[in-house]
Amino acid sequence: MRRYLRGFASASLGPRSDVGSRKYGPRALVVGASDGIGASFASALAARGLDVILVARRREPLAALAERLRTAHGVETSVVVADVGTPEGVDAVDRAADGVGLLVCNAAFAPIGPFVALTPSQVDAVLDVNCRAAVRLTHSIGSAMVARGRGGVILLSSMAGAQGSALVAHYAATKAYLRVLAEGLWTEWRPRGVDVLACCPGLVRTPTYLASFPARLGRLVPAPMEPDRVVRAALAALGRRPVVIPGWRNRLAASAVARLLPRSAALALVSRQTRAMYPSAQRSGAAAEASPTESHRPAPADGSDG
Ligand SMILES: NC(=O)c1ccc[n+]([C@@H]2O[C@H](COP(=O)([O-])OP(=O)(O)OC[C@H]3O[C@@H](n4cnc5c(N)ncnc54)[C@H](OP(=O)(O)O)[C@@H]3O)[C@@H](O)[C@H]2O)c1
Repeated sequence: MRRYLRGFASASLGPRSDVGSRKYGPRALVVGASDGIGASFASALAARGLDVILVARRREPLAALAERLRTAHGVETSVVVADVGTPEGVDAVDRAADGVGLLVCNAAFAPIGPFVALTPSQVDAVLDVNCRAAVRLTHSIGSAMVARGRGGVILLSSMAGAQGSALVAHYAATKAYLRVLAEGLWTEWRPRGVDVLACCPGLVRTPTYLASFPARLGRLVPAPMEPDRVVRAALAALGRRPVVIPGWRNRLAASAVARLLPRSAALALVSRQTRAMYPSAQRSGAAAEASPTESHRPAPADGSDG
C-alpha cells in the first residue's frame, strides 16, 4: 500500500528535468503557444536555453511572448502564424521546423455539447487540429530527429482520453489517439535516441478552460492546476516514461476510475461529472466553443477530466 501511494507522489514533480540544449536543442517548436499550457511550455523551454519557434493563429500574443522570451532568456525566437486545422497551416509549420530537437503538439479544439449538435465542420476540425496536425508534424519532424539520433516529442493528451464521456465524446477519443500514438512511438523511437511523451493533464486553469465557464466540479474532481505545474511535470517525465498525468490527485483519481470501477460505472461517473460542469451545453443541445479572446476562436476545455 505504501509503495502504491509513493508511486502517486514520485511520478509528479520529480527531480529537475535535464531538458536543455544538449539532448533537445538547438530549438523547440511549440504548436499552440499563444496562451495557456503552450505559452508555459515555450517559457520553460526558453528558460532552459532552447531557442523557440512559436505557432498559433493569433499573431499579437505570439509576437509579445517571443519578445518577452528573447529579452528574459537571450534565446532566439520566431513566430509562425498558422491554422494547423488546415493542410496549408501544417505545411507552413513543417517548413519552419528545420533543426527542431523538441516538438510540443499542444493545440486542440474541444467543442462541448452533445455529439449530434456538432456541425460537420466541427467534427472535421476536432480531428484535423487534435489528431491530423499532431501526427503529421510528429511524423515529419520526428523522422528528422530519428535520423539525427536525438530529440523529443510531447503530445498533449488529457485525462479525458482514458475513457469516453458524454458532451466531449469526440474530443476525448482524439485524446485517446494521442496517448496511444505516444506510447507506440516511445517504444519504437527510444532505442533510436528520441523520447516521446503523452502528457495527460486533468483540469488546467488556462484562458480556454476559464472561458468554458464550468458550472461546478464534482466532489471527486481535483481542482484545476496551474499550467506551469503541468509543464514541469511533463519536462520531468520526458525520457523517463511514455505517459505522465500531472498531479498526484489526478493520478489517484485516474487510477481509482480505471481500476476500482467496472468500465460502465466509470463511464457513467465521468459523464455525470461532465454534465454537472456543463449543464447548459447539455440543455441547449448546441456545442459550445469556449472563446477567451476572439469570437472565431475554437477552443478546448477538458470537460470530462477528473
Ligand atoms: N485546459 C485544460 O483543462 C486541459 C486539460 C487537459 C488537457 N488539455 C490539453 O492541453 C492543451 C492546451 O490546452 P489549453 O487549455 O492551454 O488551451 P487551448 O485552447 O487548447 O489553446 C492552446 C493553443 O492552441 C492554439 N490553437 C488552437 N487551435 C489552433 C489551430 N487550429 N492552429 C494553431 N493554433 C491553434 C491557441 O492559439 P490561437 O487561438 O492563437 O490559435 C492556443 O495558443 C490542449 O491540447 C488540451 O486538449 C487542456
